[in-house]
Amino acid sequence: MTDNTLEENETIEMKLLLEAIHLKYGYNFKDYANAHTKRRLRNRLKMSGMTTYTDMMRRIIYDEPFFNELLMDLSINVTEMFRDPWFYLKVREELIPRLKTYSFIKVWHAGCSAGQEVYSMSILLEEEGMKKRSQVYATDFNELILEKAKAGIYPLDVMKTYTSNYQKAGGTGDFSDYYTADDKNVILKRGLREKVLFSSHNLVTDGVFGEMHLIFCRNVLIYFNRKLQNQVLQLFYDSLIPGGYLCLGSKESLKFTDFTDRFDVVSKKEKIYRKKLMAE
Ligand SMILES: C[S@@+](CC[C@H](N)C(=O)[O-])C[C@H]1O[C@@H](n2cnc3c(N)ncnc32)[C@H](O)[C@@H]1O
Repeated sequence: MTDNTLEENETIEMKLLLEAIHLKYGYNFKDYANAHTKRRLRNRLKMSGMTTYTDMMRRIIYDEPFFNELLMDLSINVTEMFRDPWFYLKVREELIPRLKTYSFIKVWHAGCSAGQEVYSMSILLEEEGMKKRSQVYATDFNELILEKAKAGIYPLDVMKTYTSNYQKAGGTGDFSDYYTADDKNVILKRGLREKVLFSSHNLVTDGVFGEMHLIFCRNVLIYFNRKLQNQVLQLFYDSLIPGGYLCLGSKESLKFTDFTDRFDVVSKKEKIYRKKLMAE
């Protein structure tokens, strides 16, 4: 068989496997970026000791714990507190003063992973005196990771990075005031969860969250193909109030999407956008 035929056959098998996942578990990965999906499926195949995607598909259908492992691979949950501290500094210095003009704000963290982004923002809102007049929604489609987000317990060894990020992000307090620690983990203070509602939400298949002032969707769109990016951006556009803000990840942008003209750029480097007040 030529290399081309092999590649073609692999693509067919992968498509069938993604179809099986959709049919059996309702997760739709068909419009995720091709290279990303391929890499993850190839890795899982190698690690599982199976030789074909057709074998793997059978295992996925009949063995839910095995599917959950693959779900972890495909969903990529890498995150940290105050990730890209310069971004949070910009939020503090530029966005917060604008948001303070509202008597109440609604914030949506879409694709919140294990919650670090949400708690970073909770700290920021608290330090800026905005916590009491905010409601925060934190969603992810991966229910296993969402449980971790609700718990707010993180390994002790990441705290050095988180503390340094907090300081670079303009933190005004002492980071250690926000958690208690045992010999392995830190447990974030319950108060940081006060205004946060965690819930399962799939950006591919679920609907709008109404009247948001601010949406964070950082490091999620990068895994979607252009068609799916546009579909999800429409969801965000419909969920934002006119003049509401959208924050993307450092490698993401509205450039080359259908939404470049419907948002103003607030901050190019930090990927902060504002929904135009009136549709043009
Ligand atoms: C790399 S993490 C980003 C976490 C955080 N936003 C950050 O920037 O640190 C990507 C997250 O998006 C979630 N995700 C991927 N596809 C999704 C979908 N269709 N609906 C909701 N969440 C999704 C994954 O489960 C994962 O937790």
